[in-house]
Amino acid sequence: MSSKLSTFICQNCGTETSQYFGKCLNCNSWNSIVEEIKSERSKHQDIKNNKKSIPFDKISSKKISRFSSGFREFDRVLGGGIVPGSVVLLGGEPGIGKSTIVLQSAGKISLNEKVLYITAEESLEQVKIRWERLNQKSIDLQIFAETNLFLILEEIKRVNPSFAIIDSIQAIHNHEMESSPGSVSQVRACSSELQILAKDYNVSLLLIGHVTKDGSLAGPKTLEHLVDTVINFEGDNISSHRLLRSIKNRFGSTFEIGIFEMLEEGLREIKNPSSIFTNKENISGVTTTITNEGTRPLAVDIQALVNKTFYSNPRRTTTGISINRLHQILAVVEKHVGVKLSEFDCYIATGGGFEINDPSSDLGVAISILSSLKNIPPLASTSFIGELGLSGQVRKSNNLRTKIEEAVRLGIKNIVVPKLEGELNNNFQNLINIKEISNIKEAVDYALSK
Ligand SMILES: Nc1ncnc2c1ncn2[C@@H]1O[C@H](COP(=O)(O)OP(=O)(O)OP(=O)(O)O)[C@@H](O)[C@H]1O
Ligand SMILES: [Mg+2]
Ligand SMILES: [Zn+2]
Repeated sequence: MSSKLSTFICQNCGTETSQYFGKCLNCNSWNSIVEEIKSERSKHQDIKNNKKSIPFDKISSKKISRFSSGFREFDRVLGGGIVPGSVVLLGGEPGIGKSTIVLQSAGKISLNEKVLYITAEESLEQVKIRWERLNQKSIDLQIFAETNLFLILEEIKRVNPSFAIIDSIQAIHNHEMESSPGSVSQVRACSSELQILAKDYNVSLLLIGHVTKDGSLAGPKTLEHLVDTVINFEGDNISSHRLLRSIKNRFGSTFEIGIFEMLEEGLREIKNPSSIFTNKENISGVTTTITNEGTRPLAVDIQALVNKTFYSNPRRTTTGISINRLHQILAVVEKHVGVKLSEFDCYIATGGGFEINDPSSDLGVAISILSSLKNIPPLASTSFIGELGLSGQVRKSNNLRTKIEEAVRLGIKNIVVPKLEGELNNNFQNLINIKEISNIKEAVDYALSK
């Protein structure tokens, strides 16, 4: 028996309402609400009744044996490789290289594991042409071109691979539902069926999902709670660099990143990523900070441009750090260094537009701003680490040791850090000059006096 239910779903954030609104009440996007008909199947399927609760101490704690994606950078983002039976969602904007990285990875995995590649967007021939361009060796990969969810589920059960890829989740559909492929209810329904299959058959699944800026396709946002791991594939149209960034991970730390370069022959891992986000020039308005993204320290330049304003409201823009963070840093600098920044426009950009989430980049931002304002280059070969408190103090930073180690590895001569505890400073004697400071004023006196 099936009954029809009509519901209105925001295609941007997935919020459901019982009536139509021109603007989503949850995410405020316009014209994103679409009527969807759900035909609810009565789920009286024969439920396997062979599962029983067990005492907690009967569970064997044998380690989950992960397998490699074939890329060290990808493995790191996954928390150390692919977990059997897990579901990973790989999101990214159109054309960023999702199919490419996944196909390269599938090729490498298939040397050791059984892999099934389900292409719902491209024909078998198109995938083959990509494969040939990527110049991969011949491999033992099963490939299936299909968009019907039930046929896909059957094929996964039949082949019983260790790893299966769905390219993409928005292109497949459950024909029992009347909504179109890519709609929120289709994407959700397909993902949850696939998720159940992954657990029951211990198949690791990788779902590719498109993200569009205008939210016209169901964003992976609506799937985040359904899957184990959410990874974003990011980049820009200017540079060939691509970043994998974990947004959610049940099996590892989040905000872990992997860095690649897009070449004609596919994606290549970048071995020394700090080198691509820094320039090592000593000019006014530029400092280097060492941020922590996931478990990895990474040196990134911070550039500031501070100019007398022609507007009644000075301009403030940022690339790579949040605008709110900049407003707060400007307020702290104005109050505790005693400069009148309200008369100046201020633009901030990180090296390569790299998105920094680590608050210990504050000090580098502040020094870049003051360096540009005074037109004095900061002390040469110096990195700045520390979160600015509202009262001008420089607060402790996470993973300071690994950040200092990265600075040493990169041959940086001086590093300005919050007051250290215990022996940390002694460990780096003769390797780098560590300047401990407790407030912004001390950092300015040290780094910006001629
Ligand atoms: N011949 C080529 N030489 C170099 N780079 C190429 C070549 N062909 C494609 N590319 C790169 O590959 C990208 C497309 O990769 P891919 O198809 O894997 O992306 P995608 O994220 O899967 O895209 P879609 O959203 O269309 O599925 C292009 O944007 C381009 O950067
Ligand atoms: Mg693709
Ligand atoms: Zn919404």
